[in-house]
Amino acid sequence: MEKTIAVLPGDGIGPEVTRAAVKVLKLIARRYQHEFNFSYGLIGGAAIDALDNPFPKETADACKTADAVLLGAVGGPKWDNNPSELRPEKGLLAIRKHFGLFANLRPVKAVPALLASSPLKEEKAAGVDLMIVRELTGGLYFGEKARTADDAYDTLVYSREEISRIVEQAFELARVRRGKVTSVDKANVLESSRLWREVVEEKKAAYPDVTVEHQLVDSCAMKLITDPSAFDVVVTENMFGDILSDEASVITGSLGMLPSASIRTDGFGLYEPVHGSGPDIAGKGIANPAAAILSAAMMLRYSFGMETEAAAIEEAVQTVLEDGCRTADLAEAEGRSLTTEEWTDKVIEQLDAEAVSE
Ligand code: NAD
Ligand code: IPM
Ligand code: MN
Repeated sequence: MEKTIAVLPGDGIGPEVTRAAVKVLKLIARRYQHEFNFSYGLIGGAAIDALDNPFPKETADACKTADAVLLGAVGGPKWDNNPSELRPEKGLLAIRKHFGLFANLRPVKAVPALLASSPLKEEKAAGVDLMIVRELTGGLYFGEKARTADDAYDTLVYSREEISRIVEQAFELARVRRGKVTSVDKANVLESSRLWREVVEEKKAAYPDVTVEHQLVDSCAMKLITDPSAFDVVVTENMFGDILSDEASVITGSLGMLPSASIRTDGFGLYEPVHGSGPDIAGKGIANPAAAILSAAMMLRYSFGMETEAAAIEEAVQTVLEDGCRTADLAEAEGRSLTTEEWTDKVIEQLDAEAVSE
């Protein structure tokens, strides 16, 4: 198959981890006789520096003509005091909104080889396999907001339509997973959550094969740590999903492990690690590229329908970890850690080895 992928490296460790993911995608193209064309664009701080705009028109155009987008990360201290329209994060919000990418899938799966790296007891982390389905283009992030010198507000608005489409995504995913949806809200306080709960209750009739539970977000945060295996699909609004996914990521051992897909209903999608630009480690060549590489695997699965290729990447990542290869975020105190590039090359070698053994 021939596909065009827009690559937006962004800031900090973004370029370091996207380079790794592109390297893996190039190998996949060779091995499975696909043609992947890469086009590069600016986003975030890099785009502000070059073009005074965190999501320039050139970038939007490059993404529009592509079949999918691979993004690194945006942000950093250099731009933290910029006015809100000229913040790198604004570029990320803009691209999500511009392309209507309302569903953000964030899978959290315990890796057997990394159980000792999890801050949870091994028996708690073992077997965790959940999917956070985060609403991505509504809620507090996009509601009317303003500030004066002494006041500020952000508004949390959801329409029935916005809730319906994300809840449907969650039900569809649960259907092909373990058949359970946990809808997370704050219905004891928020009006928008009460509408959310109402929509979930209406929708569930169409999915008799899926069980549904409602959970308040505060106790959900607790249960993600005390009993993470109890979750299958977790569906929630934008900001709750943002916070809960960073929390859940460390069950796997590191935020550097968690990939994500931001999709709509026609197959187009933006694929990005859950982590940010890692200003504390940027430029050192030590970032864990697994989240970016696994995001590329999600691209193959969700945008290109290449399940075999996606699974091959995921398997290679698992094997490399089982072989004890670690970047600094996961290294044992006494073990030598690999650089981003060295770890990526292990994944490449593994993919090549799998090809030979077929
Ligand atoms: P962060 O995710 O960048 O970093 C949190 C911690 O995790 C840091 O200690 C970092 O070194 C570590 N870390 C993150 N990714 C890692 C990786 N791949 N390998 C090893 N360690 C990794 O979050 P932050 O420090 O709160 O935010 C930094 C900047 O990133 C901010 O400007 C923020 O707005 C931005 N951000 C961007 C995105 C995105 O582009 N999707 C997501 C989150 C934060
Ligand atoms: C994420 C990030 C973004 C978000 C920021 C950088 C705008 O934290 O992708 O999780 O809050 O959505
Ligand atoms: Mn986040």
